[in-house]
Amino acid sequence: MEQREKFSSRIGFILISVGCAVGLGNVWRFPYIAGAYGGAAFVLIYLIFLAILGLPIMVMELAVGRSSQRSAARSFHVLEPKGSKWHLTGYLAVAGNYLLMMFYTTVGGWMLIYIKKMALGEFSGKTAEEAGTIFNAMLASPSSMMGGMLVVVVLGFLVCSVGLQKGVERITKWMMGLLFVILVVLCIRSMTLPGAAEGLAFYLVPDFGKIVECGVGEVIFAAMGQAFFTLSLGIGAMAIFGSYIDKSRRLTGEAVHICVLDTVVAFLAGLIIFPACTAFGVSPGQGPGLVFVTLPNIFNQMSAGRLWGVLFFIFMSFAALSTIIAVFENIISFSADLWHWGRKKASWINGVAVAVLSIPCALGFNILSWAQPLGAGSTIQDLEDFIISNNLLPLGSLLYLLFCTSRRGWGWKKFQAEADEGAGFAFPAWARGYVTYVLPVIVLIILVMGYWQKFA
Ligand code: PHE
Repeated sequence: MEQREKFSSRIGFILISVGCAVGLGNVWRFPYIAGAYGGAAFVLIYLIFLAILGLPIMVMELAVGRSSQRSAARSFHVLEPKGSKWHLTGYLAVAGNYLLMMFYTTVGGWMLIYIKKMALGEFSGKTAEEAGTIFNAMLASPSSMMGGMLVVVVLGFLVCSVGLQKGVERITKWMMGLLFVILVVLCIRSMTLPGAAEGLAFYLVPDFGKIVECGVGEVIFAAMGQAFFTLSLGIGAMAIFGSYIDKSRRLTGEAVHICVLDTVVAFLAGLIIFPACTAFGVSPGQGPGLVFVTLPNIFNQMSAGRLWGVLFFIFMSFAALSTIIAVFENIISFSADLWHWGRKKASWINGVAVAVLSIPCALGFNILSWAQPLGAGSTIQDLEDFIISNNLLPLGSLLYLLFCTSRRGWGWKKFQAEADEGAGFAFPAWARGYVTYVLPVIVLIILVMGYWQKFA
């Protein structure tokens, strides 16, 4: 068997996993979903889910990847008991990775377009309302939307075609560090704006009445979806990185690092967006345009704001790209595992495939805007996001969970042995009962409840 590529260092592994986790989910999706579902009370539920659902499942994904030394497309074949059907989960994971990219590349494109808009000073002196008009004009332009998306796809596959260590690992390290610095600067500016306090309260002081207004089941459903989304769980996206590391560290500690860093970035994004919402009179519940309408106003209030704006959208594009690159890396390794394609060939063919698959979302805001699959005003993007975040990610996570705990799957013993190999802290033995009997039930109940409230 050919030698599997490896990361050059432990820190490289942590950073690339964080690079996969930290993305549009933190800076774009988290604020707008939290805003739409009532603020602080949602945030609280979300944080609880990160700890009680996300963390253990991340350890499981990493363990499956590391033990099998394969991508999600093949890992179940290697580990499942002979004659069982767990490997079907692998196909779900493959589909999930493509589906995610079908809308993610479009939003990544928005970030790139905003670099240009910022640099040209299009937002200078504009009010929040005018910023909204500029955003909507961008959505309405098929050529901008297609252009942004295509650049993202090409950049992503170019980096991947160069190879794991030279391409993916090297670039991601830099992107994440710079993003973090600029987030802290923006936080300080936003929280000191006049009118910021109200926004902070919306974000940090839970008002459970708001949850009741939105529908308890639906809010909890959304919080679970966001928790899986932000940690990249359920479609083997994290598992692949487990397959690139050695056995020197126990996996629980590595997962804690990834979860904490991811959560910090999302939390900072909220500290930037919500104070700015109240300061500039932007409704936090307005949906996917939220960051694109609020942020330009913050930059307008800063000295050298145009420069800060350009830098912010550059680093944000990096964060989106690091996620896209990580998922492309998965897609490429699926082709290698399933059809033995080389890296170059897989990059080319998948690049074209992902670009074509991304077209409906990109055109869903203009030429295809008559398609409103989730009710009046909804877009193709909403549908794709719903399928992945509220269905595939929780279901995939559930399958990983059952695989690692059930005797008819890989089983607790083997999972535990893999997770605890190396130095660092162990997967707590007391948690066995919890992950085996309680966790799957929680996920199932939330899925059913969420569906009920959304569609009944
Ligand atoms: N975690 C990524 C983000 O926050 C999105 C993602 C989800 C990536 C699932 C891979 C798998 O942007």
